[in-house]
Amino acid sequence: IQDSLTFIINGEQLTVKTKGCDPEIGPQYLLVDYLRDKLGLTGTKYMCREGGCGACVVKVKSPNHVAGRNTSVSANSCLLPLFACDGLEITTVEALGNRKTGYNEIQDRLVKFGGTQCGFCSPGFVMNMHSVAEANPDFTSQDVENSLDGNICRCTGFRPILDAFKSLSV
Ligand code: FES
Ligand code: FES
Repeated sequence: IQDSLTFIINGEQLTVKTKGCDPEIGPQYLLVDYLRDKLGLTGTKYMCREGGCGACVVKVKSPNHVAGRNTSVSANSCLLPLFACDGLEITTVEALGNRKTGYNEIQDRLVKFGGTQCGFCSPGFVMNMHSVAEANPDFTSQDVENSLDGNICRCTGFRPILDAFKSLSV
């Protein structure tokens, strides 16, 4: 095991010692727990903790050796060991927008279309959509349909959520 991990979270470079500092942080320690419990970034939610609900989705940017540049994907932080995050750039919903600084367009549309009630699923949907839009700014309605099957909403039903994101498509 290497001595430390270095990654960027919401634009800030962080280094975590892996030996002798925090007994909780071991090979099975998950990114979702680090975000919420160590950094207080509780916008990232969790429910199933097994990759089935999408509540914990964050955006991960990493080098893509095939494309020859960094590319972004959405990732379930409940499935991502912190030890696998070395060198990654991670973005959580807190970095997108908020009441004080103003909302990101994706967040805005979700509200305007009535796609959020209890709001528990919303950060995961927003981060998934944000990753899709960053990877391909010319995303289509079909891309929205294809990309959100890993996110579950228990409140609104899916139509207003899909309509909100499709309103941003080409
Ligand atoms: Fe459900 Fe991560 S908590 S997918
Ligand atoms: Fe409540 Fe989606 S708005 S779970």
